[in-house]
Amino acid sequence: MSEASFIYLSQEDAVRCGAADVAATVIDTERTTLLAYQGKAIEAPTATLFWGVPPEKLKNFVGYPSKKRANIHAGYLDDDGVMKVALKNIPSNPDNPINGKGPRASGLVTILDPETGYPLALMDAMVISCMRTGALGAIGVKHLRRPGSRSVGLIGVGPINQAAILCTAEVMPELEVAFVYDLNTERAEAFATEFSRKLSIDVRVASSAREAIADADVIIPATNVQTIDDAYIAPDWLKPGSLLVDLSIWDATFETLARADGYVMNSTISMERKTMTPSVMVDRGLAKEEEIIDLGKVIAGETRGRREDKDVIVYFARGMAIYDVMCGYRVYQNALKDGVGEKLSLWQNAFWS
Ligand SMILES: NC(=O)c1ccc[n+]([C@@H]2O[C@H](COP(=O)([O-])OP(=O)(O)OC[C@H]3O[C@@H](n4cnc5c(N)ncnc54)[C@H](O)[C@@H]3O)[C@@H](O)[C@H]2O)c1
Repeated sequence: MSEASFIYLSQEDAVRCGAADVAATVIDTERTTLLAYQGKAIEAPTATLFWGVPPEKLKNFVGYPSKKRANIHAGYLDDDGVMKVALKNIPSNPDNPINGKGPRASGLVTILDPETGYPLALMDAMVISCMRTGALGAIGVKHLRRPGSRSVGLIGVGPINQAAILCTAEVMPELEVAFVYDLNTERAEAFATEFSRKLSIDVRVASSAREAIADADVIIPATNVQTIDDAYIAPDWLKPGSLLVDLSIWDATFETLARADGYVMNSTISMERKTMTPSVMVDRGLAKEEEIIDLGKVIAGETRGRREDKDVIVYFARGMAIYDVMCGYRVYQNALKDGVGEKLSLWQNAFWS
């Protein structure tokens, strides 16, 4: 009578069901940003566990006090009357690739029954999360780049920027050239070979971050910089009219961020993250909250994100569970339709009712 079960989707299953579908992820991410602006999204405060550091480093920090961390997220969407609710946990350690352990992050998305709260599906989060992050950057590129933009400068070529270049190419058909820089030159070269072939664009390995940025109309850092003390993008590196997509947070110095002509954030909900930009910018008096435009308002056609072609715009792209909810739900629906995944029992007869 009270039997409960859910489906389990491995990473391969999730990909089969559209986790890496670039066009669908961009559409989902843009729609989620709009729903958040319309007040149809709820994001629980993120809980982050850091470990492997002395306890005093865990007090009053900005940025990441430890490389080892696990984020726990939960979100809800009212998508045209369909209630979508899910949880995501995403542990990570940027030393994993260096240590030959595999990707920086792993994780699981749990899709919940909106009525009972019971799990409907448990699935790999790695591909969904990377793709929605790349798409989150790309929807900023779609709405905020200067007309006539032709180039992108990518700093760091891990999974996040691999997703970002795919999603950027999706929204920027005029993309001709990508300049890429990574501390790991071999990784940058492999990236250039793969994406010049996949996207039929010119992907050039730069010898420094500055060189990768100098001629770029759109700049997307996705590195492992942990705090503002290690920021390296100086104000005079950004050319007039460029768009900086703040994906990995601490790459641009405060001076660089403060000198921008305009700020956009993907959602006002992201101000809840008190240890990250854009909240830190506001707390330090470097930007006024009311001056940071909600991208949802731009998508809704109620304002423009960019005023002048010559403006340097900073777009704070803060991933949230609501994006994983939307994309995970699509993957779940596809799995049901195509009969993908393994059915697992939560209980045959509930121990307690
Ligand atoms: N904005 C968001 O919502 C969001 C979501 C997920 C991940 N992220 C961030 O994206 C970043 C990248 O994630 P990933 O999974 O691709 O990581 P990854 O560790 O696989 O790749 C990062 C790459 O950046 C390179 N790198 C590190 N520091 C550098 C520097 N100073 N200059 C040039 N290259 C440098 C490394 O060599 C590595 O190849 C992480 O910081 C992660 O926290 C942001």
